[in-house]
Amino acid sequence: MKTMFCGVWVIVGAVVFTTLACAADATIVIKFSHVVSPETPKGRAALRFKEVAERRCNGRVKVEVYPNGTLFKDKEELDALFAGSVQMLAPSLVKLSASPADVGEFQLFNLPYVFPSVDLLRRVTNGPIGVAIFSKLEPKGIVGLAYWDNGFMSMSANRPLRTPADLKGLTLRVSSSAGEPMMRMLGATPQVMPLSEVYPAMKRGAIDGTENVPSNLYTQKMHEVQKHITISNHSYLGYAVVANKKFWDSLPSDIRVQLKLALLDATRYANLYAEQENQEALNKIKISGATELYTLSIDEREVWRRALMPVHKELQTRIGKDLLQAVYKEGAALGHKF
Ligand code: LMR
Repeated sequence: MKTMFCGVWVIVGAVVFTTLACAADATIVIKFSHVVSPETPKGRAALRFKEVAERRCNGRVKVEVYPNGTLFKDKEELDALFAGSVQMLAPSLVKLSASPADVGEFQLFNLPYVFPSVDLLRRVTNGPIGVAIFSKLEPKGIVGLAYWDNGFMSMSANRPLRTPADLKGLTLRVSSSAGEPMMRMLGATPQVMPLSEVYPAMKRGAIDGTENVPSNLYTQKMHEVQKHITISNHSYLGYAVVANKKFWDSLPSDIRVQLKLALLDATRYANLYAEQENQEALNKIKISGATELYTLSIDEREVWRRALMPVHKELQTRIGKDLLQAVYKEGAALGHKF
């Protein structure tokens, strides 16, 4: 009888041990969803993260990257992150200021002409301001892991856009409701729309134009359905690499360390090549001959800047007056005037 009990315990022990060992060995799958082409700064950085993370974790982690909104579209992807149906995303910073994340501080990044230099942008994203903004995500169940660059946005439409007055009366696509105040300031009608729907909407004339970075304009083929692009560089487009907090906290600590190192690598990669990618996209648009590219002169840019600066004041309560003043102060230290 005793021997039989011992045998049972040996079997139970073996089963428990095998189960634990399997659990420890089970591959951790990270679904990483985004809405742009793989051939964009974000698309490439996500693939770089996958490559480095999988190598560093020795097969214990599998990163599945879903580009072009194939898994979830713009707003849906954040709902999916909250629900845990996707583990990582890299939404544009401005999208985090709108519903469903609704963290007003992120609207800072979209303010027109708030970053006159990349130096100021880096001071913000790599310094205490960037950390403080990310901390606002935690109560929402999201953890902010890295800031990735794309670049500065241009305006496109079917008519030349030389002065802010040229945008009056146009219906222009914006990526989130946070982009609406700037379009209204210009006398345009903003229309929020997922990125994947912009090309067909332009083609059938449902919208007159949009704002975006060259790499998105080119890879979404918007230049084929728009006649004019003005390189206005009016607003920054960057990304927050974010994870579902519950998922992130549940990871074994050694895996979290390796993923953070992989993110450091992907961030360096993203920020090093983003500008080059946008320049290449502009060249390709130019070569296509499908649309006319116009670069604002310094004086013309100043006219745009003055027309759009009141948006800062309009949004200062939403963003936080102290936060905005802290950014201006950093800018002043670099010789910028606002
Ligand atoms: C857009 O919707 O235009 C952008 O936010 C897309 C992106 O992620 O670059």
